[in-house]
Amino acid sequence: MKYAIISDIHGNAPALLSVLEDARNEKVDGYIFAGDYYADFPYPNEVVDTMRNLDNSFIVSGNKEGYLVELKEIDQTDWVHNQFNSLYWNYKKLRKENLLYLQQLQDKAVIEINDGTIKILLLHDITNLIKDSNLNLLSSSKYAEKMERKPFNDKEFAEYIEEILHTDETIMNEVHNIDADIIVFGHSHVQWHTTINNKILINSGSCGLPLDYKCTAAYTIVDIIDSKITIEERRVAYDIDRLVKEIKSSELYECAKGWCDIIIGELNTGRDDITFFFHHAWEVARELQNTAWPFDNDIWAEAVRSWFEESKTKFSTLP
Ligand SMILES: [Fe+2]
Repeated sequence: MKYAIISDIHGNAPALLSVLEDARNEKVDGYIFAGDYYADFPYPNEVVDTMRNLDNSFIVSGNKEGYLVELKEIDQTDWVHNQFNSLYWNYKKLRKENLLYLQQLQDKAVIEINDGTIKILLLHDITNLIKDSNLNLLSSSKYAEKMERKPFNDKEFAEYIEEILHTDETIMNEVHNIDADIIVFGHSHVQWHTTINNKILINSGSCGLPLDYKCTAAYTIVDIIDSKITIEERRVAYDIDRLVKEIKSSELYECAKGWCDIIIGELNTGRDDITFFFHHAWEVARELQNTAWPFDNDIWAEAVRSWFEESKTKFSTLP
């Protein structure tokens, strides 16, 4: 069985369609989706409709779908804060059946292959399962800090992964205790895989918004023939210039311009700017002595304005 593992689409339908075309050319038998299907691009229904029409697919929720579940319970006046405009636009734009579909997704799944002789554990964020470990060093913001300090290539990153994961006893023990042969996840938007204690860990990266300094849609193919498992990380180029034009002429852009501009920056660089933008926004909030959370709209507006006017160079300095 050959599966395409796809994660963190974030509403980027053009990236998803390009990945699915590549996966069909690779003759995959099915699809594994690891969460975060909407949020930052103007195509939430196109993404969900496409996923729902695929045969032989396994789908779990991500933290973005978690917001949709929370919204059922909470006072939505909080969502008029401009910092949430992109999420809230998407929430309102999702057709009812697609909203319900995303809200009912489970956060974990076990996929049994070859009559249960191979088990795949699927979840969005492995750091929810293995806490306080070196896995936190593989986040997109840590990746950006490391890259800005001293650029590295894929081979050096693979060596770094071996070094930090294989020397971490928490990870070695926790992975040993997981009842699965392959553990599949996403969340960090950084693509990697490794083998620990005979178990394969696969982060398929991000289809819609990669943050590993590559501006191509990421996904990973796992091919299982009897007990032989082969992993192939794939990157698919698509028309980002056209996507940016579409974003800029969308309703979403009108509603959440600052957020969209940061996302466009990430699309064009593959770099995690959002984490550094929030760090900058907190600095602005402290300077203006208004640290209310969510940010008041005037703090948010000043943070966006000053981010684009003066602070692009600040992004590599997290505390
Ligand atoms: Fe994500």
